[in-house]
Amino acid sequence: MELIGRMMDGSFDYDRGGRLEPVSGPGARQEDKIERLREVPLFEECSNKQLRSLAKITKVFDVAAGAVIARAGELGDEFFLICDGSVRVEVSPDQHVLLGPGKFFGEMSLLDGGPRSATVVASTPVRLFVITRQNFSVLLKDVPGLTETLLVTLSRRVRQAEERAERLASGAAGL
Ligand code: CMP
Repeated sequence: MELIGRMMDGSFDYDRGGRLEPVSGPGARQEDKIERLREVPLFEECSNKQLRSLAKITKVFDVAAGAVIARAGELGDEFFLICDGSVRVEVSPDQHVLLGPGKFFGEMSLLDGGPRSATVVASTPVRLFVITRQNFSVLLKDVPGLTETLLVTLSRRVRQAEERAERLASGAAGL
């Protein structure tokens, strides 16, 4: 299981971990979370009431640069939204995509139940909003436009992956 999943279900060994921290002070207070969530494009159509519910189901984690947040092939049970910092999605050994504040990842495993499609590594210290699988389902029903945004993002990611594969194939063929 992934680091954050183990922290959330209580099986994480804090003595050996040290590369991610649940945030409990400023930043994790309900009001702080609401203010940050309000700035996220994904939630721009949410009412104050919806933002309050969203803040209740969102946990905040600080992750050290270099830590692996999700590993390709492993089962994943969390959806991640980047609050501060950036992550590197290792789509393939020679293809990386950088995601920064306001961007999200981890939606694919939650949508289709399959393993993580890529490894995701913190490329700077990162503050993440984390939502569990169970709460993600509630979110899909409650947040207006979320399903559509996820579909658009997924289509874009597939298209980019195909374009990169084509470029690689042309490069290998010397075209
Ligand atoms: P998931 O498969 O759950 O875990 C790895 C995540 O990396 C995946 O969800 C997406 O959120 C993200 N991801 C996969 N491929 C790409 C891509 N080509 N561009 C950006 N993000 C991606």
